[in-house]
Amino acid sequence: MKTVKSFLAKQLNLPSPPAIIQNLQSRIVEENVNNKDLAEIIEVDPSFTARILRLVNSPFYGFKGKIASVEEAITMLGFNTVHQLMLTTSMLNVIEVQNKTIDLNKFWLHSFGVGIMTKHLLCKANKDIRNEGFMGGILHDIGRMIFIKMDTNRFISFYTKENRVIDLKSELEYFNIDHQELGKALAQQWNFPDSISTAIAYHHLPENTKDYRLLASAVNIADMLCHAFNIGDSYSCFVTDFSSTAWKELNINMDELEIILKQALIEIDKSKHLMSMSN
Ligand SMILES: [Fe+2]
Ligand SMILES: [Fe+2]
Repeated sequence: MKTVKSFLAKQLNLPSPPAIIQNLQSRIVEENVNNKDLAEIIEVDPSFTARILRLVNSPFYGFKGKIASVEEAITMLGFNTVHQLMLTTSMLNVIEVQNKTIDLNKFWLHSFGVGIMTKHLLCKANKDIRNEGFMGGILHDIGRMIFIKMDTNRFISFYTKENRVIDLKSELEYFNIDHQELGKALAQQWNFPDSISTAIAYHHLPENTKDYRLLASAVNIADMLCHAFNIGDSYSCFVTDFSSTAWKELNINMDELEIILKQALIEIDKSKHLMSMSN
């Protein structure tokens, strides 16, 4: 597995995590890192600190601008959530593409929309799973982002209007890898938790994974709903087929879905400023 990962990383020239993340990840592997250590690592980087504080004070978490320090953020949200936020925001920052031919705001809106929708669809799961769903949802199409970053013109010529249908097979033929696999390779290179790399790797085919199937299913249904409600754009304008496996996995009925949808759409609307968190 390691060989495939390093081969892919080499071939695709995947971006590496910034120094702050490399430092944190190696310390987490080597020693016990507590809340205070994590806060100290984050506070070394002022722009990173600002991004974390902006995110924890956003309507998504409901603290309404009350959290003033990173340590407080960790106490309120928990170590794992803040750690995952660090990974997610850094990845978005590194992947950021400067290109006027593609409307990246729409792409970010789609990504955050799916993150928020996934969290709401997981309303029966525990807090950790809901947070993983948020991260997995935000990052689900990160493979497409890498396609754009690697060669924007090639991406645009592939995703012409007629071709903008989710088709992993033709992606594989054209790019030698599909966006699920590419997203997974990046998540693994950055040492993201397995739950998140699995959600990315199976968001179009949740029935193909035994591990973290609930998470992959929630991202799948959230993706479909965001396409159906025109929330942003990920350069795939067709609504994916409804996956009955994914729907069963969620264990929610239509009445519950109606409530979930209402709440998620309100939150997506309120949280549009999150799109700029990687700046
Ligand atoms: Fe996708
Ligand atoms: Fe998507």
